[in-house]
Amino acid sequence: MSMKAIGIVGSPRKNGNVDTLVQTVLQGAKEAGFETAKYNLNEMKYRGCQACDYCKSHDQCRQDDDVLALLKEIASADAVVFGSPIYFSQFTGQFRLMEDRMYSLIDSGFNSRLKAGKKAIIVTSQGNPDLSAYEKASQEFAGALKILGFEVTETISLANANSLHAVNDRADLLEKAKAAGKAL
Ligand SMILES: Cc1cc2nc3c(=O)[nH]c(=O)nc-3n(C[C@H](O)[C@H](O)[C@H](O)COP(=O)(O)O)c2cc1C
Repeated sequence: MSMKAIGIVGSPRKNGNVDTLVQTVLQGAKEAGFETAKYNLNEMKYRGCQACDYCKSHDQCRQDDDVLALLKEIASADAVVFGSPIYFSQFTGQFRLMEDRMYSLIDSGFNSRLKAGKKAIIVTSQGNPDLSAYEKASQEFAGALKILGFEVTETISLANANSLHAVNDRADLLEKAKAAGKAL
C-alpha cells in the first residue's frame, strides 16, 4: 500500500503563499511515491472544540463535521503538512479551531491515539520581513504535534509576503519545500 501525505491549508487565500508552499511540499512527496491530498480549512464547515470531553470516554470527537473527517485523514496519513499564515502573531482562526479539535486525538491518559512515526512539516507565511518575530507560533504548534507523537522534519517560513504570490519570487524556498516533501 502506498504511503499517504496530506496537506492542510489554514489560509483563506486560494493559491496564495501558504497554499502554494503546501502544494509544493505535496508535489515533492508525490515524486517520492506518496499518494497526496490537500484540504482547505476555509472551505470546510466546523466549529471549535466544545470541551465536552466526549473524546476522553470515546475514541473520537462528538462533532460529526468536516473536521472529524479531516482528523480521520490525519490518523490514516503517514505525513501531514500543516500550513497557516500569521494573523496577529498567531496561526489563523481557521487553523486554530482545527488545532483545538486535535485534542480528540489524545486519550484520557494524555497519550496520543495516533500511530507512532508520523512525520509533519510546518508551513507559515507572514507580512513582517523579520522571520524571528513569530517563530514562537510555529514552536508552540510543534509542541502540540510532539504531544501527538509527530516528528516535525521541516519548518518552511516565508517572510515579507503581503502580496498573494510573493512566494513565486522565492525559488529557494519553493525548492526547500519540494525537497522537504521528497525527503518524507
Ligand atoms: C487578519 C490578518 C492579520 C495579519 N496579521 C499579521 C501579523 O500579525 N504579522 C504579519 O507579519 N503579517 C500579518 N498578516 C499578513 C499575512 O500573514 C501575510 O499576508 C501572509 O503572507 C498571508 O499568507 P497567504 O498568502 O497564504 O494567505 C495578517 C493578515 C491578515 C489578513
